[in-house]
Amino acid sequence: MHVTHLSLADFRSYARVEVPLEPGVTAFVGPNGQGKTNLVEAVGYLATLGSHRVSSDAPLVRMGAERAIVRAAVVQGERQQLIELELNPGKANRARINRSSQVKPRDVLGIVRSVLFAPEDLALVKGDPGERRRFLDELITARSPRMGGVRADYDRVLKQRNTLLKTAALARRHGGRQMDLSTLDIWDQHLARAGAELLAQRLDLIAALQPLADKAYQQLAPGGGPLALEYRGSAGEAMADAATREELYGVLLAALGEARKQEIERGVTLVGPHRDDLVLKLGQLPAKGYASHGESWSYALALRLASYDLLRAESPMSGPGGSPDGGGRRAGEPVLVLDDVFAELDARRRERLAELVAPGEQVLVTAAVAEDVPAVLAGARFTVSGGAVEKVTP
Ligand SMILES: Nc1ncnc2c1ncn2[C@@H]1O[C@H](COP(=O)(O)OP(=O)(O)O)[C@@H](O)[C@H]1O
Ligand SMILES: [Mg+2]
Repeated sequence: MHVTHLSLADFRSYARVEVPLEPGVTAFVGPNGQGKTNLVEAVGYLATLGSHRVSSDAPLVRMGAERAIVRAAVVQGERQQLIELELNPGKANRARINRSSQVKPRDVLGIVRSVLFAPEDLALVKGDPGERRRFLDELITARSPRMGGVRADYDRVLKQRNTLLKTAALARRHGGRQMDLSTLDIWDQHLARAGAELLAQRLDLIAALQPLADKAYQQLAPGGGPLALEYRGSAGEAMADAATREELYGVLLAALGEARKQEIERGVTLVGPHRDDLVLKLGQLPAKGYASHGESWSYALALRLASYDLLRAESPMSGPGGSPDGGGRRAGEPVLVLDDVFAELDARRRERLAELVAPGEQVLVTAAVAEDVPAVLAGARFTVSGGAVEKVTP
């Protein structure tokens, strides 16, 4: 798929901007702080309903404005769609698909598919478990958009269960009346139900991602590796033997039962996908804490490249009867976004990465100076400066 037009109103630094796009490579070039990342962040938002830089919508709305609008025309095979998201911080966001407003923002998931590389990706390897959980969950949602709903369910149940535990913890500490904890049993079941679905998807994803990430790492850093992606679940060892969603449900429920006393003492949910981690191993050692800066970078890039390969391989075919189009492409091939990554890499990895992504259906690149964009990624070019995004005519 590719985006043929991006239109922003009161998004980040842009009061208004219209950007016509084509398939192939497009580079946005301009000095720092001029709004290059803001553009590609909007594409990422359409794909994930979130930003790769901030966890809430408020910073995405232009200072002084009330709401932001992100609009895009998207082509997927033969199909054209117009999507629009209205960001209302503190209130519900709104969506329109092909001018119909009878949709929820979550219905937009799956129309724009994208894989975004950014300097922030280093945190995938070096950062907290939350970074890796978000990586996994965004990818499971891209693979299967209905998981957006499951994630929302899980978050809602978790929040309510935590509120209940906090009340119980307070009552206990202040020697108040013991709470009736039978409602907690119900919340355990809800949490385990949504949690098991999330877990099953994460485990399936990791199994699919592992060989692709290993291959990508070899391409970026020949002779390095091997990579191993190991899921570390808060439900403990028993998870290793659970193969199905039903079994995972049982394991989660049992682990919640075991943790209950401690949970009531601490007033917080200690078991579930929100407490899990993905351990990224390079050779025998975890990359976090052991890998060099360069290795960590290659690892992060390998995870993104693997995501791209996976989404591409699993995307719907475009031709009639489910065949690839003339270029051997599939309709749902994701948009690749490379935000300011080339400046971070040495010449060798820069060339390797560029060669790997160059054939993509649509590749959006940002760079402070044109020389940072490798030659194989020659394509359309825009300058971004002082709020203006202007096409450079060769
Ligand atoms: N909500 C906002 N309202 C107004 N300006 C913003 C907002 N968010 C970010 N900016 C401005 O956008 C600029 C950064 O844009 P960015 O796209 O990250 O730059 P770059 O071209 O370096 O990628 C900064 O000057 C910042 O002040
Ligand atoms: Mg930037």
